[in-house]
Amino acid sequence: DKGNYRHFMAKEIHEQPEVVGLALGHYLDFSAGRVALPFALPVNPASIDRLTICGCGTAYMAGLVAKYWFERFAGIEVNVELASEFRYAEPPLKADGLTLFISQSGETADVLASLRYAKARGQKTMGVVNVETSTLARECDLAVPIRAGTEIGVASTKAFTCQLAVLASLALAFGRERQAISDETEARLVGELMAVPGLMAEALRKDSLVEQIARDLSHAHDVLYLGRGTAYPLALEGALKLKELSYIHAEGYAAGELKHGPIALIDETMPVIVIAPPSPVLEKTISNMEEVAARGGKLILIGEAGLARDVADEVKRSLVLSPMAPDFAAMVYAIPVQLLAYHTAVVMGKDADQPRNLAKSVTVE
Ligand code: M6R
Repeated sequence: DKGNYRHFMAKEIHEQPEVVGLALGHYLDFSAGRVALPFALPVNPASIDRLTICGCGTAYMAGLVAKYWFERFAGIEVNVELASEFRYAEPPLKADGLTLFISQSGETADVLASLRYAKARGQKTMGVVNVETSTLARECDLAVPIRAGTEIGVASTKAFTCQLAVLASLALAFGRERQAISDETEARLVGELMAVPGLMAEALRKDSLVEQIARDLSHAHDVLYLGRGTAYPLALEGALKLKELSYIHAEGYAAGELKHGPIALIDETMPVIVIAPPSPVLEKTISNMEEVAARGGKLILIGEAGLARDVADEVKRSLVLSPMAPDFAAMVYAIPVQLLAYHTAVVMGKDADQPRNLAKSVTVE
């Protein structure tokens, strides 16, 4: 049932404050300001020196975001792998290490093949999964449900942010077990996570503004998304969403890579979407914006108030979100990124729930 929405995708985007709040509530003790996992981990996080994360498409992007969190909060080395590569690359994996698989459906063929490979190598395995009766949930050592509820739109939206909610909670749990964060830091970060659903609800109020930006974007042939830190995987995710729904060619880049190639593409016809959440390296992103502006690129900024000031004349559009702490801002900034792809597809008359050539669950290679 789509309720009052035109598409399942719109409904699922708007469900995020609620489902992300529920997912967080399952893994965090809000009143104590602590992570409270309702299960035992299959390994002692203090006894491993590397974590491998594996998935496809949007689930892979969630893994890329989580890498920053596990490295920062738990001080553990993280490798994020595309399941389609991992399964054939046959990477060396230490027995008793940990591989974490992320999959909404839990039926993606490459993920299941990678799971079986990791198990055969003696790895302990975890599945961050939405469909709790899926093959991944059954075959991994520990299934961690993301509790997003049924996702019908082919484009992953609420599954992505619920994956992030679970991965953030796991990163904090690892941080505590590895004594990489103090109780005070844990309490602060749990507080920041608790604020995410409310901030998502505020971001959703920008829906009609995003729709106006989508009207501009619908005329583009190519779109560049830029971001740094956790906004870099979000740039990749934004480009993936726009491609799959509107069929406009889009690419995501780490903002610092701009001058290593993609800057050659920039001219007056090229929209450049800069995802600029609060971050200790925001100044660096601002200088990348100036580089785009100097070459006549059409800047579309997603960030806090004041961000556009320095390059004001060249900024075509900006989408201003509320101030927030930097650590989990990527979860909130996912909302405008998803809305932009959704509205662009709708403006262009494409089927946002069922894009051409795509299946919800990719059970063949
Ligand atoms: O069910 P899974 O999470 O394993 O699916 C992985 C990808 O096929 C999926 O995220 C795909 O990239 C989405 N259509 C993106 O919106």
